[in-house]
Amino acid sequence: MTTMNAYHLLGGSGLRVSPLALGTMTFAQDDWGSDEAAARAILDRYLEAGGNFVDTADMYAQGRSEAMLGKFLADPALRDQVVLATKYSHGGGSRNPNRVGNGRKNMLATLEDSLRRLGTDYIDLYWVHIWDTVTPVEEIMSTFDALVRSGKVRAVGLSNVPAWYAAKAQMTARWRGWEPVAALQLEYSLADREVEVEHTAAALDLSMGLVSYSPLAAGFLTGRYRRDGNHVDGEGRLNGASQRYFREMLGGFDDRHWRLLDVLGGIAEEVGRSMAQVALNWAVRRRAVASVIIGARDTAQLEQNLAAVEFELTAEQVARLDEASAPVPNKLLMLQSPEVHQRFMSGGHTVTKEPAWYRG
Ligand SMILES: NC(=O)c1ccc[n+]([C@@H]2O[C@H](COP(=O)([O-])OP(=O)(O)OC[C@H]3O[C@@H](n4cnc5c(N)ncnc54)[C@H](OP(=O)(O)O)[C@@H]3O)[C@@H](O)[C@H]2O)c1
Repeated sequence: MTTMNAYHLLGGSGLRVSPLALGTMTFAQDDWGSDEAAARAILDRYLEAGGNFVDTADMYAQGRSEAMLGKFLADPALRDQVVLATKYSHGGGSRNPNRVGNGRKNMLATLEDSLRRLGTDYIDLYWVHIWDTVTPVEEIMSTFDALVRSGKVRAVGLSNVPAWYAAKAQMTARWRGWEPVAALQLEYSLADREVEVEHTAAALDLSMGLVSYSPLAAGFLTGRYRRDGNHVDGEGRLNGASQRYFREMLGGFDDRHWRLLDVLGGIAEEVGRSMAQVALNWAVRRRAVASVIIGARDTAQLEQNLAAVEFELTAEQVARLDEASAPVPNKLLMLQSPEVHQRFMSGGHTVTKEPAWYRG
């Protein structure tokens, strides 16, 4: 059984993080988030439950998420307790081409803005938020390294990057003696298992911890939405009138996703837990995952989500979830399967990288 204070090391770093991280994309977000009182209650309860890993970004609620966190973590002892992570890339929607994207100028300027809003002089984990497709990897990794050496940043990570790019970044850092990539932050849930095609293997092989976001597919996996023909009912972020992006996401769920909800609902009933708890429990136990970033609009949701690590699903229940959520067959994935390995790549023997006793 996992508990909130059974910490994991983040990738190859010495940073210790709880299995559930707290996402603060909802903090100060007007129509689908939490106001100051609700956000403070969420943070307090998360820390009280043993969580230590808090995720934000310069762009969340146009900087107001960071500013709120800065206020809540004003006590230096509390700040010290938290692994505080933030991200750069968007540059606050600037029209200046050097104040958006992954380049050095934007990284350094955005970091200063984040430090000021967060009221701290260092960030525990600094992320590229999204790959901009053009900045040389050497520029990102050398600037990350300089920031770690300066003491303004403790560890670095990449979010929303292709696996080949993460591998290039990691190998560049290794060969140059620069600060390595500690973690990859990617969308990963029962509704979206795309990371398993390439990122899981890259993360394991190159000592990068996977940090999953949107583990409930932005609320879809809670079962709060129902499809009736082409019409979707249900209150929540995905059906919020002002959120075109989320409504489009909701419309993108296909028959496979709706069938998955039936299986998830059945297992939730069997174990006497909510669908959200079963979906999170599944997410926490995926290979290479160091931590799962949960989101909550209020403390009632948070309470439920925190309890998601306190029970075990049977191997048979996990297998049913795996089957119902299996990604569309992909040749690359099939070629990595144990069956193919056993049949064609091992002379019929069992060949593993590590002796069975190694992992304990
Ligand atoms: N790197 C990136 O690009 C990226 C992208 C997205 C997120 N993230 C990070 O990941 C964090 C989590 O992402 P997420 O908010 O999309 O996660 P999520 O867990 O998929 O969705 C959270 C939302 O689901 C609903 N919900 C949560 N628990 C529930 C429960 N027990 N019962 C019913 N509804 C429940 C709430 O929405 P409503 O009640 O409002 O419907 C809540 O805001 C973010 O805060 C952020 O830190 C990173």
